[in-house]
Amino acid sequence: MKKILVVANWKMYVEDAEAAGAFAKSLRTKLRSLPYAAVSITPPYILIPALAKALARSSVALGAQAVSAAASGAHTGEVSANMLKKAGATFSIIGHSERRALGESNEAVRAQMLELSQVGLGAILCVGERERDPGGEHFSFIKEQLTSALTGLPKKTVSKLVIAYEPVWAIGKSAADAMSSPEVQEAAIFIRKTLASLIEPVLAKKVPILYGGSVEAENAAAILKEGGVSGFLVGHASANLENFLGILKACK
Ligand code: PGA
Repeated sequence: MKKILVVANWKMYVEDAEAAGAFAKSLRTKLRSLPYAAVSITPPYILIPALAKALARSSVALGAQAVSAAASGAHTGEVSANMLKKAGATFSIIGHSERRALGESNEAVRAQMLELSQVGLGAILCVGERERDPGGEHFSFIKEQLTSALTGLPKKTVSKLVIAYEPVWAIGKSAADAMSSPEVQEAAIFIRKTLASLIEPVLAKKVPILYGGSVEAENAAAILKEGGVSGFLVGHASANLENFLGILKACK
């Protein structure tokens, strides 16, 4: 059975180890009745060690929300891929729109992915337009993000790659404001085609494409069924256990 990938992007919503530990403990129990879901959590950096402990020997994967483009050295405020690995993370989100808004370029995102690959960690590469263009210009924008990050990547990097399509205008709202399922499907097809032009087609077919942007229990089932995606990157609704479980149940 191919599992539905559901990644919790906690952003700065969950603030301390106690809350993170309690969330992880309950989630572990509940997941026994949700065998069709492959769940990951990306907490703020400082909560990674506590969650690594709380999720040990569970099926829940642990990741980071961002990673440095540098391997080591004089980079104030940065956390390297190797440090993430040592702390228990197995992947990182890269290129999230909230980081791009702070100035992260496509080149930086590519360098981050190569750093992750260097130490054997996976990457969830976020792409998505800031606004829709009636003439379809937003597709060129997504293509540029994919092309600059993925051109000429080694096989081992591609094998641990996940794409998260997150239209920026749909982030942080409610299910009613999220993208419609047909629009998600259209974007997912476009991304799949673009991937096939950038990496070996056999590998491109296997890269999971997630949707993110106001996923809640109310819209998860429809987007999954009609949107042609492998799962979700969930922000605000992932920080509350009941809301997150609502999404996981809707994926059945
Ligand atoms: P949201 O965030 O679910 O709160 O819209 C998604 C994301 O930014 O990853």
